[in-house]
Amino acid sequence: MKTQEIQRIACLGTGVIGASWCTNFVMKGYEAVLYDISDEQLASGRQKVADNLAFLVEKACMTREAAGQALDRVRCTTSMEEALCGVQLVQESVPERYEIKQAVLAQVDEFAGDRVIYASSTSGLLISEIAKLSQYPERCIGAHPYNPPHLIPLVELVGPAGSEAAVETARQFYTLLGKEPVVLHQEVPGFIANRIQTAVAREIIDLVVRGVCSVEDADKALTFGPGIRWAIMGQNLLYQLGNPKGIKGLYANVGGGKNKKSWLEDMARWTTYPEDWPDMAQAGVEEAMARRPAQLGNTNESLARYRDEMLLEILKLHHKL
Ligand SMILES: NC(=O)c1ccc[n+]([C@@H]2O[C@H](COP(=O)([O-])OP(=O)(O)OC[C@H]3O[C@@H](n4cnc5c(N)ncnc54)[C@H](O)[C@@H]3O)[C@@H](O)[C@H]2O)c1
Repeated sequence: MKTQEIQRIACLGTGVIGASWCTNFVMKGYEAVLYDISDEQLASGRQKVADNLAFLVEKACMTREAAGQALDRVRCTTSMEEALCGVQLVQESVPERYEIKQAVLAQVDEFAGDRVIYASSTSGLLISEIAKLSQYPERCIGAHPYNPPHLIPLVELVGPAGSEAAVETARQFYTLLGKEPVVLHQEVPGFIANRIQTAVAREIIDLVVRGVCSVEDADKALTFGPGIRWAIMGQNLLYQLGNPKGIKGLYANVGGGKNKKSWLEDMARWTTYPEDWPDMAQAGVEEAMARRPAQLGNTNESLARYRDEMLLEILKLHHKL
């Protein structure tokens, strides 16, 4: 299939991710079909799309007219056969369980054969395992977004052996959509971004559990240190700027000159989360939220709004809105 042929996308599953993908497709001019297992879920999914578009209008990122036209491009159905009629791409965002994704893919096989690309939003399941029962594994790919997909540009792509053409078509399509696709050369649980995030999270947990810092200060160190730079460019480019001899020169000294091994040796390497961490984390987050001024968000709702407002500003700086 050629990239330009992709004009209508079926969004299977209309939860947090499915509705956001749908928003992304229709705001960029594509037709989208929302599919879910009940009318209630569908109505809630469509409402999420409407809310996402309304937020973009409120923040002057879209006109009211354009948002109305985008919403008109959304169709809803609980019939898989209807959902797949006339679509070229399937963006599957059903719950993160092999048996559910495999059952959904079996229906895609039945009603669409190999005429669609099947792109799973899975966060960490292996696409080869999801596709192992499919008659057409070569058109199955993992296309992992970062939440919320209609705002965050990253999409991580990977496919089983034989899916190179589907991966390439998808890469070109997501690029047209304004996203920043990355292609993994081999499957790994958690793709790239979630593994990076988990590595950072493990070190944060370790520092707090060892009593080195509070939950609040770990977040502050991240937000106003590396995080603020990471929103501009990645670790490798930043290191390139960190030494007159570039990244190579930096690695000769990173971690404290002749004691350079000591940071790594002192860092977390455990593979089971500390049992008391969820309670410690929750208490720490509530303490931090209680200290935040209202305009920076101090409830779940206001914090999410603050995050999304800041996100729009960063996206504008990246020319992504
Ligand atoms: N939430 C995140 O931050 C995030 C980020 C990236 C990727 N993902 C991945 O996206 C996928 C969806 O996650 P979510 O957070 O949107 O989940 P969710 O629970 O919010 O939504 C799942 C949706 O799938 C529907 N569903 C259940 N069974 C179904 C079936 N058989 N057919 C069609 N629809 C069905 C549910 O009714 C629900 O609307 C998962 O694979 C998840 O790992 C999630």
